[in-house]
Amino acid sequence: MQISPSILSADFANLESELDAIATADWAHVDVMDGHFVPNLTIGLPVVKRLVEVSPVPIDTHLMIEDPDRWAPMYAELGAKSVTFHIEAAREPRTLAKNLRALGARASMALKPGTPWAPYADLLPELDMVLVMTVEPGFGGQAFMADQMPKVREVREAVRRFGGEVWIQVDGGVSASTIEQCVEAGADVFVAGSAVYNADDAAANIAHLRELVAA
Ligand code: DX5
Ligand code: ZN
Repeated sequence: MQISPSILSADFANLESELDAIATADWAHVDVMDGHFVPNLTIGLPVVKRLVEVSPVPIDTHLMIEDPDRWAPMYAELGAKSVTFHIEAAREPRTLAKNLRALGARASMALKPGTPWAPYADLLPELDMVLVMTVEPGFGGQAFMADQMPKVREVREAVRRFGGEVWIQVDGGVSASTIEQCVEAGADVFVAGSAVYNADDAAANIAHLRELVAA
């Protein structure tokens, strides 16, 4: 069970100290948005490069961008330990995942809420993680979509049948009130932006989420 706070809800003028504030987490989740694949725009390669250099925890990049076949390997090259591309944007997902692994990153594939799992199930051996989005990607602070839990169950069942170690991440609206249903459905990596950064102290929020997933 791992917690990956999303810095999308952090103070972008103080990212180094905001990363230090989540040093007790397992990962720092970095949302890269290009203003095309999703309507919002965040940060790209030069900023992520510096985040990798200063972060006390490994960087988990979530690339909400077009043409991940071209761009995603560059995030692996600069040292992101986990690189998630969206299947809706990838042209050659199998090749892309292989490239990410060859560059030393964990290869991960994300599914938007409207994207089914079944057509991509045969990619599982190429993947280290599957991200099941629990909001429409693009913005922090949206309401959790409980209707994505059957998809989490489906991926969990596929991982069980495959027998390999593939993590299942949920991202969007994950908080103290929604995290337990994600655990119950089979997720094991939890992204939380507003629930970690927007209330009190980040370390206490991480500790609280950990207690809930361990229970
Ligand atoms: C949304 C991003 C999420 C976002 C989650 O497109 O992928 O990582 O930061 O924020 P919360 O936890 O506030 O829903
Ligand atoms: Zn994300």
